[in-house]
Amino acid sequence: MSLDAQIAAVQAEIDDAPISDAEAAEAFRVRFLGRKSGAITDLFSQLGTAPPDQRRDLGQRLNALKQSAQGRLDAGLAALATETTSGATDLDLTLPGRVPAPVERGSLHVLSQTLADIQDIFRSFGFAVARGPEIEDDWHNFSALNFPANHPARDMQDTFFLEPPPPDGRGVVLRTHTSPVQVRVLEQTEPPVRVIAPGRVFRNEAISYKSYCLFHQVEGLVVDEGVSFADLKALLQAFARAFFGASDGPAREARMRFRPSFFPFTEPSAEVDVWWADDALPGGGRWMEILGSGMVDPNVLTNVGVDPERFTGFAFGMGVERMAMLRHGIDDIRLLYENDVRFLKQF
Ligand code: PHE
Repeated sequence: MSLDAQIAAVQAEIDDAPISDAEAAEAFRVRFLGRKSGAITDLFSQLGTAPPDQRRDLGQRLNALKQSAQGRLDAGLAALATETTSGATDLDLTLPGRVPAPVERGSLHVLSQTLADIQDIFRSFGFAVARGPEIEDDWHNFSALNFPANHPARDMQDTFFLEPPPPDGRGVVLRTHTSPVQVRVLEQTEPPVRVIAPGRVFRNEAISYKSYCLFHQVEGLVVDEGVSFADLKALLQAFARAFFGASDGPAREARMRFRPSFFPFTEPSAEVDVWWADDALPGGGRWMEILGSGMVDPNVLTNVGVDPERFTGFAFGMGVERMAMLRHGIDDIRLLYENDVRFLKQF
């Protein structure tokens, strides 16, 4: 093959050779530009054998061939370099090492905190803590508590029935209050009794900013000789001072009022409100009901075998959600159940 034809063949080869990575670039360099056995060196060495009148022209074409090979190699290497660099733009060596998202330290739910505080205060007053089941029977939730059979008083609390009420069924319910624990304690313990019973209760109510289908109560029960309404009032006032006194909540002055009320299991009965101070409201706030209370009805004592001629007592049932709302200025009870961390992490 003439030198002329070989130059054309090598040029075609150069134009086709891929320079896809560093290895291919090195192979390209050795194949065409290698000093000892590269194709172009080889062609240069043949120049001496070409007819003298063509040498000048062939020499120029060989130089052009060499430049073209070098040009392709340089371009290929440059392309590879930018490829690597642009691939590395994600890699910022100044960034801190990649570690899993740190586990955030959690805290007790605001309701658990509130309940713990309430329990601590009553423990300091000498109360023991009792518990009862969330699924209750008719006797403990209603009958022993002096709710007459088929009496509309049972509708006072919108009940979730698991079994229909008597006479159609045994009346198994999700307890509507913690008062059945009064019955369970008095069935098992001789007075003097001084207990609280915290727990979850359930009511079939429309859900709104102030009521939910479940909530928490702390029941209180004191039965002894000579217990009076004055004892009830003094205890609740001391409790309110202890609970609200330490807080910056809107009710920190703990203004309380006792309102005459009715419960089948207490006589007389009172509901207790705490003042919710709020400048945005006409009158600077409003009363918020936090508990029902009263002197234990003699019929209840008789039902559980305690002599009402000898013993008297008082009871109360406090809403834990309401206490938390008052203390922290939470204006919607639903926030307590939605588990939105942005809300919960404030406490
Ligand atoms: N059990 C009543 C309620 O849930 C509250 C209460 C408890 C009232 C104890 C009087 C005595 O509404």
